[in-house]
Amino acid sequence: MSDILNGKVVIVTGAASGLGRATAIAAARHGAKAVIVSDITEVPREGGGPTTAEIEGLGVSARFVAADVSRRADIDALVAAADEFGGVDVMVANAGITLRSDGADVREEDYRRLMAVNLDGALFSAQAAGERMKALGRNGSIVLMASMGGIVGSGMTVAYSTSKGGVVLLAKALADAFGPSGIRVNSVSPGTIDTELLRKTPGVAEAAEGFRQRTPLRRFGQPSEIGDAIAWLGSDLSSYVSGISLIVDGGLLSVI
Ligand SMILES: NC(=O)c1ccc[n+]([C@@H]2O[C@H](COP(=O)([O-])OP(=O)(O)OC[C@H]3O[C@@H](n4cnc5c(N)ncnc54)[C@H](O)[C@@H]3O)[C@@H](O)[C@H]2O)c1
Repeated sequence: MSDILNGKVVIVTGAASGLGRATAIAAARHGAKAVIVSDITEVPREGGGPTTAEIEGLGVSARFVAADVSRRADIDALVAAADEFGGVDVMVANAGITLRSDGADVREEDYRRLMAVNLDGALFSAQAAGERMKALGRNGSIVLMASMGGIVGSGMTVAYSTSKGGVVLLAKALADAFGPSGIRVNSVSPGTIDTELLRKTPGVAEAAEGFRQRTPLRRFGQPSEIGDAIAWLGSDLSSYVSGISLIVDGGLLSVI
């Protein structure tokens, strides 16, 4: 479809389903040399196997690597897995969770579990990839998955919004830390995208139709549209873009 990622080795966490899967496939469609598809296990929803098979079907090398993003050691092993193809060029820290109950009374253990995946996971993924890119002398690109929920708050998603707001700032801070080495760090903030997470998260699912009606483009986003935005951030076409949160929301945050 394009060759903007030509020659690049791309790692995507949380890539066995939803936006991660779409991002991994988009990387292949945009000419990546290899895609490392990672998730905590092989079989959530669509699955790591079918995702790697689809990428290989496009003529691009792919590997599934199990990694829990809340464990730094897992992420170090994940980044090392890219060395088989010449080392990581693009890290997409996509893995994230929501909670069934995430109001002001969010339970301590739920809050800590969510932060461990959404915020610690983004930090560990960026740290490990950034260190490896530096060692390889690569002008790499790190993309963190934030959310419109990290830009505006909601009483239904207290921990989630807090974690994603942290991701937006994490990208800015790491853009400064890694910038002198030629490594860019950005985040992407999707609006309402048509995924299982959106459909199955209580409260969010009900609110989604209202969001759709208020969205200037009057539709949900498709996962591939997030994958395309991330491909651009991963590519040299965005070579002077660092520290931003790219909002991909059909215009919703411009009007609410
Ligand atoms: N769907 C949306 O509309 C939307 C909007 C804004 C932001 N996001 C963000 O996009 C990302 C992906 O969301 P999605 O809708 O595709 O959800 P999803 O549940 O389909 O995918 C999330 C993936 O992360 C994996 N994961 C969970 N815990 C993990 C861990 N500890 N280590 C590694 N992987 C783990 C899951 O197994 C799953 O495959 C999340 O960060 C989410 O917050 C989604």
